[in-house]
Amino acid sequence: MIKYKIDLFSDTNTNPSREMRQAMCEAEVGNEVAGEDPTVNKLLEVVCDLLGKEAAVFMPSGTMCNGIAFRVLCQRPGDLIILDQTAHPLIKASGLISGLAQAQPYWIEGKRGIFSVDQIKPVICAPQGYNISRPRVVSIEQTTNFGGGAIWPLKTIQEICHLAHDYDVYTHMDGARLLNAVAETKISAAEYSKYFDSVWIDFSKSCGAPIGAVLAGSKSFIDEAWYYKFQQGGGLHQAGILAAGCLYGLQHHYPRLQEIHSHAKRLAKLLSELPFIKIAVNEVETNIIIFEIKYPELSALYVEQALREKGIRVLALDQTRIRMIIHLDISLVHLDEVFSAICEIGEQKLKSKII
Ligand SMILES: Cc1ncc(COP(=O)(O)O)c(C=O)c1O
Repeated sequence: MIKYKIDLFSDTNTNPSREMRQAMCEAEVGNEVAGEDPTVNKLLEVVCDLLGKEAAVFMPSGTMCNGIAFRVLCQRPGDLIILDQTAHPLIKASGLISGLAQAQPYWIEGKRGIFSVDQIKPVICAPQGYNISRPRVVSIEQTTNFGGGAIWPLKTIQEICHLAHDYDVYTHMDGARLLNAVAETKISAAEYSKYFDSVWIDFSKSCGAPIGAVLAGSKSFIDEAWYYKFQQGGGLHQAGILAAGCLYGLQHHYPRLQEIHSHAKRLAKLLSELPFIKIAVNEVETNIIIFEIKYPELSALYVEQALREKGIRVLALDQTRIRMIIHLDISLVHLDEVFSAICEIGEQKLKSKII
């Protein structure tokens, strides 16, 4: 197994710090399934406050939050979930929408993972009938993962959610990186969340916890979510150990997100100066960088492999594009190392073109 020196594959690949582990060790615990784990309860209280929601439930993962939220909101098999074509539950969750939620995806060709109210009008406002699948949920991802960490503008969110609610369609926010958006825009998590019937945040990404996400909504929504959490074997017993890592991350790592974003922007700016790379620096809004390689001689897979040999892990999205996610474990020295490595790989391969 390769041990990467610098891992930019995902912000889920952060290592829990010594202090976080210590906090986890010392957590007070009880039976989560019976609502008796004091550290889980504390986390739920903090998240309800943060998101301005009535109730919440602790989950092992963001994938489970999406799956259970969709399962609760979609009542009739075949209901439509409207989401972007790059949305995580559509492309990276093992058929979650059809398999677990028993629903159908209706995907929109958004720009960097973001779509407009006009794009969903035809499906939301279409006349309904017994022979037509019913639009049931509009789901957005704040920030967009495969859209390159783009932040959904509040106005777009408001327009989409108002239209959806006018037509009795539920709204769901995959907030895997909602805290990144909050850190960058200073718009509160509660303001972003108030337009959604269900919302969740992940602690294993920007907060650096080893595991844990919280799904929030109304009391009746969370009661239903508990039903499916049990059904899927998600009763967590003494989960306070995990919740303590989440609370630690929220308190100590969340305040570092803006610094992480400035690291990503710095690396993007450096990369923009390389002749074989195409990147819109102003599109790097948070901690995700997606860049394109201009020359066919230098495929994204080749660069991914060449970086791997130097102990650096990135993700080739296709033939030309590479994704890198900056996180807590990445220092300025690491960024310089990544930049030098990309420079070297490009120059070696394209020597004749560049000189
Ligand atoms: C936008 C988005 N949603 C959902 C998930 C799934 O989260 P988890 O890894 O906690 O299951 C991810 C993971 O990267 C993600 O980026």
